[in-house]
Amino acid sequence: MKPRHYLQFSDFSRAEYEHLLERTRWIKAQFKQYKPYHPLVDRTLAMIFEKQSTRTRLSFEAGMQQLGGCAIFLSTRDTQLGRGEPVEDMAQVVSRMVDIVMIRTYEQEILDRFAGVSRVPVINGLSNEYHPCQVLGDIFTYTEHRGPIGGRTVAWIGDSNNVCNTWMQAAAIFDFNLHVSTPPGYEVEAERAGSYGKHHFEHFADPMEAARGADLVTTDVWTSMGFEAEDAERKRDFSDWQVDADMMQLAGRDAVFMHCLPAHRGEEVSADVIDGAQSVVWDEAENRLHTQKALMEFLLLGKVA
Ligand code: CP
Ligand code: NVA
Repeated sequence: MKPRHYLQFSDFSRAEYEHLLERTRWIKAQFKQYKPYHPLVDRTLAMIFEKQSTRTRLSFEAGMQQLGGCAIFLSTRDTQLGRGEPVEDMAQVVSRMVDIVMIRTYEQEILDRFAGVSRVPVINGLSNEYHPCQVLGDIFTYTEHRGPIGGRTVAWIGDSNNVCNTWMQAAAIFDFNLHVSTPPGYEVEAERAGSYGKHHFEHFADPMEAARGADLVTTDVWTSMGFEAEDAERKRDFSDWQVDADMMQLAGRDAVFMHCLPAHRGEEVSADVIDGAQSVVWDEAENRLHTQKALMEFLLLGKVA
C-alpha cells in the first residue's frame, strides 16, 4: 500500500484537518499536564535539512521523542546528498531504515521525487513553494485564540512566498478570505492566483487596505532562504510593507498578529507589534510542536479516536 504523505496543505481534506485539530488539543493537554503519551515507541523519524532551522528541527525532534520514538538529524553537509547522490536513491535507503521522513529543501520537486519512491510517509518541513506544517500550526493557534477560522479574513502582508502559497491553499480548504498585499513585481504568480475564487483570495496593492478589518494579520521575512542574493533590492522594494501599529489599528482591536519566525524587527514588522498585546507569535511557535505530533500520529497510526 502506498503511504500517505504531507507535501502540500492541499494533501488533506477539511475533515482530516478537523481531526488533526482535535487530536492536537488532546495531545497538547496531555503535555501540559506532564502526562506521558507514547504511541510511537520504536518508531524512527529521519529529518533531512538542506536549509537552516530552529523551530522545525526542534519541534519534530522533541515531538517524536515525546511520543516515544526517536529522531535522526541529517543535513546536506554531512550526507551523500551533498555530494550528488540522487534523491531517489536516498529515498530508497532512508525509507527502508526509518518509519517516517521530514524534509526541508529547495524545489518542491525534490520532495515529490523523494515521496515518489519512499516506502514511508514524507512530510514537507518547508520548500521554496510551501510550508504546510507552519500554516497547520497557525490555524490551530488562531482557533485556540479566537475560535474557528472559517469565514474570517486573514491579511498576508509582504512576499508571496512559500508561507503565503500555503495560506492560499488553506483558505480554500477552511473557507476563509485571504487578502494578500505584495509590492509590485512580487505578486502571487498569475497561474496560482487564478486557481482561487475571489471569495478566498484577493490581491491588494495597498497593504493598509488588505489589513482593514482583518481578523488575523500575518507576515514573514522579506528575503526567504535561498534568495539571499536579492536581499538589498528586497529591502528597498518592501520598505512600505511593514506591519506596524497603524496597520494593526486598521485591522481592529480583536485582530491577532502572527509571524512564522524568525522575524526582523524594523523590517517586515515593527517591534511594538510583534512584542505587543495583539501578537500571538510565541503560542504560534509552540504549537508547531503539538500540531506536528498530531500529524505524525495521523500519518503513522491513522485516525486515533
Ligand atoms: N518557522 C519556521 O519554520 O522556523 P525555522 O526556520 O526555525 O524552522
Ligand atoms: N519564508 C521563510 C520562512 C522561514 C521559516 C523562508 O523560506 O525562509
